Amino acid sequence: MTINLSNGTIITSEQDGILTIRFDRPEKKNALNRAMYSALADELERADRTDSIRVILLTGSQDCFSSGNDLADFIMAPPEGTDSPVFRFLTAISTARKPLVAAVNGTAVGVGVTMLLHCDLVYAAAGATFQMPFVSLGLCPEAGSTLLLPRMMGHQRAAELLLMGESFGAGTAREVGIVNQVCKDGELMAIARAKAEQLAAQPAASVRLAKALLKRDYGAELQETIAEEGRLFLDRLGSPEAAEALKAFMEKRKPDFSRFS
Ligand code: COA
Repeated sequence: MTINLSNGTIITSEQDGILTIRFDRPEKKNALNRAMYSALADELERADRTDSIRVILLTGSQDCFSSGNDLADFIMAPPEGTDSPVFRFLTAISTARKPLVAAVNGTAVGVGVTMLLHCDLVYAAAGATFQMPFVSLGLCPEAGSTLLLPRMMGHQRAAELLLMGESFGAGTAREVGIVNQVCKDGELMAIARAKAEQLAAQPAASVRLAKALLKRDYGAELQETIAEEGRLFLDRLGSPEAAEALKAFMEKRKPDFSRFS
């Protein structure tokens, strides 16, 4: 099924117990806008209550997984509060009871990376790149990443990725624990699909239970962190540094933060 939104699409299909959700807005590198976040939240919530769906597989289109939040939206239609579509999506993905598999087929930026921290199995094409440029945009990290990244890789490596905001390759993503397996570019979808099928064949109730137990000691703290980061993120969206960074992106130039202390 294609969920046609006024600006960007989400393509979903269901087969063998697997709900595949594909971001499909290639002309904007699959940047996620409000309508896409709403559609994603709807699909994740539907998956949770639909018995026939046992696994959710997330992927992108063409050469891109997702370039993250639509930066034009940050200017024209910023999230107004923690009940806005992006937060509905973050709640849905971070509380999903069913296993999430991601196939990162290309560029992943911003929430395109932080959503992977909520997935259970992540496969990346060898050519995929990853970047969390929240600080470089005058913003702050989101989606629970300040809790999940240091847990996963230790403070120094998390700080390097978040404070410097540089792009890194699939090999590094594997080394720091964001990715389970790096696949040859042409083999990614077949491998991710096969893993999703293998997972869908497992006893579903036991899979859900194991997932819940894996998150038991930090689930509540994760929701608090997402909410606190969200409040600070909304605040930073109104900062002069963010205004300069977003203007620079639109004008296709490097931002200049030298006048801000
Ligand atoms: N929001 C809105 N538009 C975006 C976007 C985003 N996050 N990412 C890319 N686009 C748009 C570009 O503005 C461009 O639009 P145009 O053709 O109308 O000018 C189009 O998508 C193609 O992007 P382009 O930058 O030319 O592609 P690229 O292959 O050179 O680079 C990226 C791809 C993803 C590395 C680069 O676009 C980028 O850094 N985007 C911003 C990512 C980001 O900061 N996300 C938010 C994090 S909070």
